[in-house]
Amino acid sequence: MNIKIVTVIGSGTMGNGIAHVFAQNGFSVNLVDVSKEFLDRGVKNIRANLDRQTKKGTLTEEARGATLARIELSTDLAVCAKKSDIIVEAVNENTVLKREIFQTIDANAPPHAILASNTSSISITEIAATTKRPANVIGMHFFNPVPVMKLVELIRGIATSDETFAIVRDAAIALEKTPVEVRDSPGFISNRILMPMINEAIFCLAEGIASRDDIDTVMKLGMAHPMGPLALADFIGLDVCLSIMNVLHDGLGDDKYRPAPLLKKMVAAGYLGKKAGKGFYEYQS
Ligand SMILES: NC(=O)c1ccc[n+]([C@@H]2O[C@H](COP(=O)([O-])OP(=O)(O)OC[C@H]3O[C@@H](n4cnc5c(N)ncnc54)[C@H](O)[C@@H]3O)[C@@H](O)[C@H]2O)c1
Repeated sequence: MNIKIVTVIGSGTMGNGIAHVFAQNGFSVNLVDVSKEFLDRGVKNIRANLDRQTKKGTLTEEARGATLARIELSTDLAVCAKKSDIIVEAVNENTVLKREIFQTIDANAPPHAILASNTSSISITEIAATTKRPANVIGMHFFNPVPVMKLVELIRGIATSDETFAIVRDAAIALEKTPVEVRDSPGFISNRILMPMINEAIFCLAEGIASRDDIDTVMKLGMAHPMGPLALADFIGLDVCLSIMNVLHDGLGDDKYRPAPLLKKMVAAGYLGKKAGKGFYEYQS
């Protein structure tokens, strides 16, 4: 199957980036959200990111225009699903919401269509089980910011077919991304490794082993990480970090994944990181 028409559900941080890269690489894209206001905000981000590319000289004015012309906006998911070869879901990380969406797209998409989720932590096998086509369901986990980050984790649920995997792998390559193959497991690979590191940095801070700045400096200068783990936790959102640690702890049943009490306390206080103006660091809005 040749993918031509793509529907992206959710025009937030990840969805507008996913729509951007599909459209830039020649696919026709329907971008769906619950209101015009959210869609307008998504397109505003896409325009700003395309502008950055044209200023840097990595995209021509003509290609910028063609990219925008390939994106259609809609609030009608059922109509968009009916004409899609692949649907990439990027709504909020909420199992109940994702189940509802997968039931709607399963009921409306043509039989050949592939249903993909950009979830960071929810089981692909569980999402697939809510549909009548689990062989066509796969995780397509992009990284933020999508137009810049080269990695896509492709997560195979228990029933994902080889054909589905191959089609989505080829699509990721057509987007100039590097796909990796991962079996469905809590946190996949990226968050299975990243989140315990962030959690351990929070334990070190709480135990007074080193200051915030020194912990981040160790990982930046000693390990060549572009950002220290505490700054990165702020960037991701401490609530998101906590929810992923809970998924690892529940799913793997090992106490080495227990969330740091300081992380829980900060989330309870509303110190969610950059988006809240305060996390391990302070931010001006
Ligand atoms: N933010 C990240 O760094 C990141 C990285 C990788 C994966 N993810 C995953 O990507 C997904 C989206 O995350 P995000 O950060 O873009 O969230 P976000 O909150 O920025 O965007 C979610 C969007 O989904 C829309 N939405 C909600 N219900 C909808 C519905 N019924 N129909 C259509 N649209 C609907 C919302 O209006 C919103 O615009 C999540 O599963 C998240 O775990 C996020």
